[in-house]
Amino acid sequence: EKGGYDYFMLKEIAEQPKAIADTLLGRFTPEGRLHLDEMRLSDDDLREVDKIIIIACGTSFHVGLIAKYAIEHWTRIPCEVELASEFRYRDPIVDRSTMVIAISQSGETMDTLMALRHAREQKAKVLAICNTNGSTIPRESDAVLYTYAGPEIAVASTKAFLTQIVATYVIALYLAQVRGIKYGDEITAILADLEKTPAAVAKVLESVEPVRQLARELKDAKSVLFIGRHVGYPVALEGALKLKELAYMHAEGFAAGELKHGPIALIEEGLPVFVVVPPKGRDVLHDKMVSNIQEIRARGARTIVLVEEGDHSVDPYADHVIRLPKVPTLLQPLVATVPLQVFSCEMATAKGHDVDQPRNLAKSVTVE
Ligand code: M6R
Repeated sequence: EKGGYDYFMLKEIAEQPKAIADTLLGRFTPEGRLHLDEMRLSDDDLREVDKIIIIACGTSFHVGLIAKYAIEHWTRIPCEVELASEFRYRDPIVDRSTMVIAISQSGETMDTLMALRHAREQKAKVLAICNTNGSTIPRESDAVLYTYAGPEIAVASTKAFLTQIVATYVIALYLAQVRGIKYGDEITAILADLEKTPAAVAKVLESVEPVRQLARELKDAKSVLFIGRHVGYPVALEGALKLKELAYMHAEGFAAGELKHGPIALIEEGLPVFVVVPPKGRDVLHDKMVSNIQEIRARGARTIVLVEEGDHSVDPYADHVIRLPKVPTLLQPLVATVPLQVFSCEMATAKGHDVDQPRNLAKSVTVE
């Protein structure tokens, strides 16, 4: 059932191009209408929304952080992202014009469910993004967009993560359309870019052998850092979470701009630092990131740089370069996360850990 792979996680990493394609399939009718699996919200309801709050945990929370960039950019609706476990304990401002998006692979995460119930009590419109048909979170929501990743068995989330990003983008585009902010042509253009991502992810998967090799080399590292900016920041957080849960290693993700406010003190000789470089088109961000790489390299860090193909500006300061296919900035997480998944998986293997069942963790966390 592992389809010839040693672990479910490896199989699930390999399934990502198909998972993305399946999640996009048939979402928009030829007239450009979005198809939600279960929709109990009218277009009038959606036009009334004046705030979006995303609630989720763990890897699904990182999707929320990424989604915020696309949602605010495409819809101009303010969007907050909150850990589900924190949400209901702070008396959040929620009313009938708030849309709460609950993201959960399993649909059974208790923290997310309790946050969702709190939101509904305050009359919010609740939309679920979920990978498990008929699970509790979609059942208790007003609308559902299923991700079609197929069953995810490994405790570490991989293909669900990528499909959840796609699902949030589809929702953002739909909201933009209903509210008259984006029209047919623009949406078609973005969808066309999204439709190219399965091929881009497949391309990344073909070139991950050096990443595996690197994981074996870094097996005894005491700590690994990940830095990124914009949507690369949540990618850094996700890279660090994967390494913690699978390799039981100390790992941290930072927004690169925060380095100088403290974390740069951690940099010492030989410390591995993964850097997610924004596409070159984002001039300011890109150049700031190149300076960050120079700064940490000057302090002895071992820099592992994820950068789009054709961009050689970082080569002089990179100990290792991981080339990513060229994609628009908002889609970069879909390709940049994949080598980080592979790195953690290989690190866990090199250390002799159970890749699919890391210690102390369960696939779905049904206690608060
Ligand atoms: O099923 P959910 O998406 O609600 O799960 C949320 C987290 O428990 C989950 O993403 C967890 O962080 C994963 N083990 C990460 O790989």
